[in-house]
Formats: sequence, structure tokens, C-alpha cells
Amino acid sequence: MTLHTVIYDTDPGIDDAIALVFQALHPEIELAGITSVFGNASIATTTRNALYLAQRFAPGVPVARGAAAPLQCMAPEPLGWIHGDDGLGNIGLPEVDHAPLDSRPAHQFIAETVRARPGEITLLAVGPLTNLALALADDPGIAERVKEVVIMGGAFGIGGVLGNVTPAAEANIHCDPHAADLVFAAPWKVSIVGLDVTHETVMTTAYLASIRDRGGDAGRFVWDISRHYERFHSESDQATGIFAHDYSAAAYLVAPHLYETRGGPVRVVTEGIANGLTIQKPFGMQVDAPDWEGRPSCEVCVGVDAPGVLDLFDRMLCDQNA
Ligand code: BDR
Ligand code: CA
Repeated sequence: MTLHTVIYDTDPGIDDAIALVFQALHPEIELAGITSVFGNASIATTTRNALYLAQRFAPGVPVARGAAAPLQCMAPEPLGWIHGDDGLGNIGLPEVDHAPLDSRPAHQFIAETVRARPGEITLLAVGPLTNLALALADDPGIAERVKEVVIMGGAFGIGGVLGNVTPAAEANIHCDPHAADLVFAAPWKVSIVGLDVTHETVMTTAYLASIRDRGGDAGRFVWDISRHYERFHSESDQATGIFAHDYSAAAYLVAPHLYETRGGPVRVVTEGIANGLTIQKPFGMQVDAPDWEGRPSCEVCVGVDAPGVLDLFDRMLCDQNA
């Protein structure tokens, strides 16, 4: 039944954890590994959380520790007010056994796994893209051996939104814009699930309560960790519920028909007031654009059937408990 063999590159992170629960339950997804990266919290915290999530929801899946900082800048401050000081909504996590941590750094784990299974591995990346850029730098040949890359990141102004951490940048891209620009330049198949569609896909309080009541252990976990995230959303975006950022990338992987995409090469601004801004030159645009020339096309999500995406998550968590 496996259709997608995934390395999940993640900075857990509440919405990262929600996406992991979905992948662990989905019959068409085989998790080949989880790789941590700095972002929503320090690398120590995101790695601890990745181990915790693997041990609780995906036992036996290897976890490798990734980059502690971006390629060229300092690591950002942890986002405790968004994801909690523990990165998972301050729910009081138990001690985690670090013994099962893979001995390789994440970028080496990624490159070696791709080499071992050419044409099979999907990289689902929902944090800063540093691990992917480091893997490419070490072994550029992996690009043609990866099946596809799906990332949550960026914003293309479709609904008037260009960013969530600055007026011009989405968090994952802003954390390491140099890495993102390298990842979008490599000759692999890249799909980008950005704020244009994740801001359309809101898990409301009522939706999350229903998942809690019908989704067994996973449903209660999603409810527990999302309490902190929901408070942040209501204070910052006046939203009643949470944006389904990272889950949307997993949903796109298994149900791309729920999304409308637009092709064309993507560049990332790496300095100045628009640092982290993602800009696509859509196919057919008749302008002279040497900075986009010769770069591969990426599929950027520009539309979403949000009820369909939310229904998919509901079915995955709740049908098995019905
Ligand atoms: C992205 O930033 C992180 O805070 C979330 O986990 C998500 O990956 C949304 O901009
Ligand atoms: Ca994330």
C-alpha cells in the first residue's frame, strides 16, 4: 500500500507534530526517517521532540539530529510564545531516551538514505531548509535520485499575504533564506505549500474538539498540544483555531488534487528588508528575468479545497476509532 516513502525534515513544533501524527497513521506513507532542524525551538529541543514523537507515534522510525543554525546567519531565538518553551505547547513531556538517535547528522542521513533507495524517497520539509541544503552541498547527485521534495514555506501574495514573521517573509524561509534559494535551484521536483493555502486551512476550536472526542490517543494529543498554539493565533491573527501549516504539506503529498498549483522558477531574497521573500516567475510571464533563468520550475500551491484537506485529517484520525 506504500506510495510515499518519506524522510520528514522538521522542527517540532506544534503543527509539525500534528503533521507527524497524520503521516504515522496514513496507510500510503512509510516513514523512512525523521530529521530535526532548528527553527521553532533550539536544535536540542526539536531533536528531543522528534524522538518523543517517533517513540510515541512512529516506533522504530530512525531520528537524526540536524542543523543547529542557518548556513550563513545566527540561529534565531526559540519561538516560545508560539510553540511553548518545550516546542510542543508546554504539555509536560516525559524524559526521552536519546539512545536511539542515529549517529549521523541529518544531512548525511538524508544523502545516504536517498543513495540507498534511488527514486524512492520523498523529502517532506516543514522547517528551515538547512538540512536539505547541506545534503545537496555534500552530495549534489542526490537531487536526481530523490522522488520529490514537498516543502511548507514561503508566501506568494495570492491572498495578499507575503509573510508571517515580517511583512515580506514566512518563518521557515526567513530562518534560512540562503538554504531555501539553494533548494529551489537544485534539479529535483519541488512543490511549495505556503501561506497562500495554509492560511485558508484553519482547524477551528470546534474542529479540534471533535478530533479530541473521536480521534483516540492521537486526537487527544492534537488537542492538548494545540491549546498553546491556539492562544497565540487568537492574539496575533484574531483567528479562532490554528493554521494547518505543516499538515498541509503532508496533505498535498497524498492528495495533490485538493490543491491548485502554478509552475515556474522561484527565487528567495537573501538580504535587506525583504529578506526571506519568495518570488516565482510564473510560466508564460513575458519579462526578461535573468535571475530566474536556467533554474528549474517549482510547483507553487495557489489554491486549496480547504474543507477537503480538513476532512482528510479528520478521517485519518477518527475513522480508525469509529
Ligand atoms: C511555519 O513556521 C513554523 O512556525 C511552523 O511550524 C511552520 O512550519 C509556518 O510559517
Ligand atoms: Ca515547522
